[in-house]
Amino acid sequence: MTCCYDTVVFDLDGTLIESHEGIFRSLMYALGEMGCASPGEQDMRRFIGPPLQRSFVDVLGMSEEDARRATEIYRSRYKDKCLEESAVYTGIPELLARLKRCGAVLAVATGKPQGMTDKILQHFRLAEYFSCIVGTDEKTVTNDKSRLIERVLAGREGRTVMIGDTRFDRQGAKDCGIAFVGAGYGYGTPEELGADEGVPVAADVNGLLALLLEDAPVPRGVFITVEGLDGCGKTTQMNALEQALKRFGYDVLRTREPGGCPVSEKIRDIVLDRGHPEMLPMTEALLYASARAQHVGQIILPALKKGRLVLCDRYVDSSIAYQGGGRMLGMDRVADINAYATGGLLPDISVYLDAGVSAALERRFGVGGADRIEMEPSEFHTRVSDAFEKLIQNQSSRYLVVDARADAESVTRECFKKVMDKLRVMEGVSSFG
Ligand code: TYD
Repeated sequence: MTCCYDTVVFDLDGTLIESHEGIFRSLMYALGEMGCASPGEQDMRRFIGPPLQRSFVDVLGMSEEDARRATEIYRSRYKDKCLEESAVYTGIPELLARLKRCGAVLAVATGKPQGMTDKILQHFRLAEYFSCIVGTDEKTVTNDKSRLIERVLAGREGRTVMIGDTRFDRQGAKDCGIAFVGAGYGYGTPEELGADEGVPVAADVNGLLALLLEDAPVPRGVFITVEGLDGCGKTTQMNALEQALKRFGYDVLRTREPGGCPVSEKIRDIVLDRGHPEMLPMTEALLYASARAQHVGQIILPALKKGRLVLCDRYVDSSIAYQGGGRMLGMDRVADINAYATGGLLPDISVYLDAGVSAALERRFGVGGADRIEMEPSEFHTRVSDAFEKLIQNQSSRYLVVDARADAESVTRECFKKVMDKLRVMEGVSSFG
């Protein structure tokens, strides 16, 4: 697999980052402060791409002096809000990682001030992908993207492409004599990107990848599982992790076990039904494994084959711990049954929320509505906990252990940081400059 280009230069807003919310709100704030009416959405979109001060003049007909003041007010709000009011486009981290793996040099050229650009790229953990990040200094007011691109190109040779979502990006690429690919999912129109004139324009990030790679079989995605004792706070942390990964651009499929698809959800109802205390441990283990076989075949593998990030609430390790350890069927035996059920598919990353047996059970029973497994006595849950510990020791390279005794927000922060660090290592980011 090779990239068609040696250097790939990206615009920021509308290409890497979906930024309209912060921009529109800051615009309305600045205009409100100046006693001006807010423009319609169509006009507000014209502010994304060109330098701000220019747009106040060109779009709203302000005097240079008013435009300068409006820009100052806008920035006073935007600098604090830009992080929480923007997100990375879905699939961007995977795209950047793949381009780097192909040996392409990646860069950013944006009309946004340099400080803000660095701050945004660092916050979304994208900065590490780029060898060169060029923004404007506060005083530069120009529509001329070519000056920014030239700074990226200084001293570089080889095939280069600019990726951007507005006519300014297209013009800049043309002026610098480099290729251009339109980010049609951004804020420009297909016409201004040249779609009618044969310019390649990508409808989404996957389409962009296909235009940049010569032979682009979709890679295997990433498989992340979250494990822990009942009551360890898994649901809260799954919600937070899912939201954070999405905001950081990952194409997340969230699912759960037992369940995750209609057949497996029916098996879930049977296996957790409190009305069947007579269920044998082996029956239970096989039901979990058969639910899993369907889930892997129907949901997990197809998503991984599309290059998605699968985030699964429990997986094989729960069976090894609960049925192998808790029910005393033997950890190896349960692992064997599950290897057959899953075709040997194991997660790339497993997060273990370590709450300790007593704290977890206290929390679980505080909530009420225990299922058949949760109703087991504390010795059962102690055996489950011991089995998880053994698994973590044996499979330490894929496990991330997070102390789940702290307050929920701290747990979320630690969990996300550990997952992102591991993803970056897997994506090979640390091995590039
Ligand atoms: P879970 O959905 O995590 O519980 P909750 O409804 O509280 O979110 O899991 C349901 C129960 O099933 C839980 O007690 C753990 C148990 N379990 C096993 O015993 N083996 C398994 O393989 C799996 C996936 C879950």
